[in-house]
Amino acid sequence: MRTESMTERLDAAVAILQSHDQGHLTDGLESVGTSEVQAFIEQVESIDFEELQTLVTKGATNDGIPEALEPAPVIPRHPKDEETFRSAGEQLIRQGEIAAFTVAGGQGTRLGWNGPKGTYPATPITGKPLFRVFAEQLNAIDQRYGIETPWYLMTSPLNDAATHAFFRDNNYFGRSPESMLLFPQGVMPAVDDEGRILLEAPGVIAVSPDGHGGSLRALARSGALDHAADRGVKHLSYFQVDNPTVHAIDPLFIGLHATHPASSGEMSSKMVPKIAAGEKVGVFCSVGDRTRVIEYSDLPAKHATATTEDGSLRFIAGSIAIHILAVDFIDRLTTAGSETAMPFHLARKKVPFWDPKNGETVNPPEPNGTKFEMFVFDALEFVDQGLVYETDRVEEFAPIKNADGGDSAKSSGQLQTERAARWMEVAGSKVARNEDGTVNGQIEILASTALSAADLEAGSCPELAPGSQLVF
Ligand code: UTP
Repeated sequence: MRTESMTERLDAAVAILQSHDQGHLTDGLESVGTSEVQAFIEQVESIDFEELQTLVTKGATNDGIPEALEPAPVIPRHPKDEETFRSAGEQLIRQGEIAAFTVAGGQGTRLGWNGPKGTYPATPITGKPLFRVFAEQLNAIDQRYGIETPWYLMTSPLNDAATHAFFRDNNYFGRSPESMLLFPQGVMPAVDDEGRILLEAPGVIAVSPDGHGGSLRALARSGALDHAADRGVKHLSYFQVDNPTVHAIDPLFIGLHATHPASSGEMSSKMVPKIAAGEKVGVFCSVGDRTRVIEYSDLPAKHATATTEDGSLRFIAGSIAIHILAVDFIDRLTTAGSETAMPFHLARKKVPFWDPKNGETVNPPEPNGTKFEMFVFDALEFVDQGLVYETDRVEEFAPIKNADGGDSAKSSGQLQTERAARWMEVAGSKVARNEDGTVNGQIEILASTALSAADLEAGSCPELAPGSQLVF
């Protein structure tokens, strides 16, 4: 039964919709129950119609691609004074100033997995889910430094409950639940080509997560920034849920971010050299004194294909979505006025919708609507000196995006094995390889055994016999 206050709220919601030419959203509302009406009112109240109106009329709120693009300067993989920076990073970790931050709010449409992406089996032999891979790394870090690393994990309203349940069912993989904070990101409505918001069902507005860039305002809204500040955390080590080889907490990268003269300590990023001009990764560029990532689809061809004297790509710094962000910086970005608002990007997508004419759900064969997303790398625009550090592709980039083919669990598993093999070979161990150089077998090294090649003791590693599997 509708209460008086609910009727008032519904009237107010309808008035808001009408004043923004979105009155059609009440189509079919008379056929749904009280709790659905309640949920509908909450959806309407949570939408920023002014923001949406601007997006619909003006398009993307980023400024387009600047003319004066230069390649961003990059700190090499083994920088001068490497050990000093690593020690500085270790000191910050030991002092409890570093937390892990995983973005896991994506819909994982390409993977087509029935559940949060973090529950997907990722390792080549034991098929550990991604969430376990990161939890075990953090457990090893905690053990090593005698700390309890806070872990912030962004979900979305679509996968939040399933993610909570997964961690609960697995006893948080041995981590203390108090040190973890799972929180859903924001959503944005999808609109049709006339700027009319789409309905998913009667009384249900079609929404989708607001992009990984939405993570910054979600950190603020959820109380995660306060949680971090209360614990003395100064920096968040940001990574995506679909990269099992990421170094969740990397002392050298942290040391560079916090103490290198080329960094303002606000936001730093890792890059890998692009392997081809057409590789579909964003590229780190400089625009005036600012660092920016330009998406592959936006990088003008003359830049994408330009080469240097030695024949390598001029714009070579590919973004692998690994960053460190200062808590103070995120706080500034999310509490200040609109001058630091993150821009939205528009993507045309197939958005299933409910058609009030015949009361049916339509699954369009072609893109029919627009979704709005923020990208985390756009925060670089507000950074004084954004440091970019080179890492090695095999060492920490083995993404799982697709069910098969490139960037699948299979290709990622091969990279995980290759990395493990390299670590073993550095330690003087024998690894069976095929004639083409690929590893003849599969390897998984536990995070409790080693977090990097340097942790494997020379002479103490097992060997990989041809065609075998090795977990140690
Ligand atoms: P992707 O851009 O690969 O998207 O996200 P996705 O949703 O995982 O997969 P597709 O495109 O639907 O197939 C890169 C990372 O950013 C996170 C994802 O969870 C992944 O870790 N992400 C993306 C969010 O947390 N929220 C978003 O709104 C979008």
